[in-house]
Amino acid sequence: MAESAATSTATTLPVRDIPGDYGIPFASAIRDRLDFYYFQGQDKFFQTRVDKYHSTVVRLNVPPGPFMANDPRVIAVLDANSFPILFDVSKVEKKDVFTGTYMPSTSLTGGYRVCSYLDPSEPNHAKVKQLLFNILASRKDAVIPAFRTNFTALFETMESQVTAAGKSDFNKLNDNTSFDFLGEAYFGVRPSSTALGSTGPTKSTKWLFLQLCPLMTLGLPKILEELLLHTFPLPPLIAKCDYKALYKYFSSVAGSALDSAEKLGLKRDEACHNLLFATVFNSYGGMKVLLPGILGWLAKADKSLHVRLAKEIRSAVLFEGGKVTLNAVEKMDLTRSVVYEALRMDPPVKYQYGKAKQDLVIESHDAAFKVKKGEMLFGYQPFATRDPKVFDDADRFIGDRFLGDEGKKLIKYVVWSNGPETESPTVSNKQCPGKDFVVLVGRLLVVEFFLRYDTFTADVGTVLLGSQVTVTSLTKAAASSSD
Ligand code: HEM
Repeated sequence: MAESAATSTATTLPVRDIPGDYGIPFASAIRDRLDFYYFQGQDKFFQTRVDKYHSTVVRLNVPPGPFMANDPRVIAVLDANSFPILFDVSKVEKKDVFTGTYMPSTSLTGGYRVCSYLDPSEPNHAKVKQLLFNILASRKDAVIPAFRTNFTALFETMESQVTAAGKSDFNKLNDNTSFDFLGEAYFGVRPSSTALGSTGPTKSTKWLFLQLCPLMTLGLPKILEELLLHTFPLPPLIAKCDYKALYKYFSSVAGSALDSAEKLGLKRDEACHNLLFATVFNSYGGMKVLLPGILGWLAKADKSLHVRLAKEIRSAVLFEGGKVTLNAVEKMDLTRSVVYEALRMDPPVKYQYGKAKQDLVIESHDAAFKVKKGEMLFGYQPFATRDPKVFDDADRFIGDRFLGDEGKKLIKYVVWSNGPETESPTVSNKQCPGKDFVVLVGRLLVVEFFLRYDTFTADVGTVLLGSQVTVTSLTKAAASSSD
């Protein structure tokens, strides 16, 4: 990877001590956790510290803190210039930092540390990541048809719900549909057509919850949430049966992928636990946040954006003889820009971590900072992708932001995949192997939506780690221009 400004050792900027302090051990970490979740909320939590110290690189405690995490102390990088230090695996170690300063029990993943928790220096990292690249490449042609069948059914249900009740909960429909779509796209078998029936999404959500609840609030009384979610890990036993049922699905449908895993030198069961994690945690967890996020931004956008998208999408599809092909989707520049903009405004995975492998100098826009080997670096991604020094009107959703020559120059600052959008995941970096798949699926949602509808309205709120979208009206396209 090209050396970024954040990772160069020689600097022309004034060197500053990293401001901020961790306060009194234990007590301040709990106080900071309460600020983060309840008294300030995450954006204000970081902004008040940036303002107080006049610096976008600051020392602070991150949640969950005691007793869930051994050490909540981090150096936060909160601008577009310093954030890329987290992508440089020659400088930061990515071992066991996927969820941050705590790590869920490996009994939730068959006793294995799965790919997301491995540093590229660990031999199994390359093997598992290669396996995922192979599966995604071999199933490339299955993605569009699987998306179309599953999401056409979703839209039909959504329409009947809007007609009958005046509203439709997109998140709920998306949970079921995305789960089936992923199974069909990756392995050719819809989970709902197996012994799992319609229970896959609920079982998965329970398993995901056990791993992510230290980072969530549910709106329950604070004291209850603090004790149940943020202080001690919930017992993995709670999801044991659910995990077993999910595992059974994967071992039954992923036979040929598991054969190829063995050829790559992986144990069959380790590969299967990894496939489950990549599909259910990485992919399904991602879709649960990504797709409502995109639809939410579209709902809040000006109607003229809907008109422009419908025009672009329908003419590209018409040009391909009425078929939604990869070729057609690649030609839809506005659609791609809208998806990038949604990923910029609300990166679905907001926190990234990495431990300094050596003494480092990191640079914000206006100062350089010395970091000691072993210190934990933490990035709150929305502050990098909404950096006003890079993006004009940075807090505003602008659908066509990435169009034209000037727009293209900004694409490298879209980093939702744990790397610049202009770079690619490899077996030796930690960039998301689903990068191209995700941007394709995001675009397919917009494509299918505007082939079917001219415009729509929705209520957009927040839920757990993302947006809650309740569709309230749909204006159907006069005549469908797709097959
Ligand atoms: C890694 C985001 C979908 C598989 C990552 C990381 C991020 C991310 C931020 C880096 C985490 C870190 O190390 O700090 C997302 C988002 C997704 C998504 C937002 C969807 C909206 C997928 C899909 C796959 C996938 C579809 C399927 C293959 C993985 C794996 C890693 C990873 C295996 C670990 C990579 C490595 O160890 O080198 N993803 N991802 N993700 N993602 Fe994704």
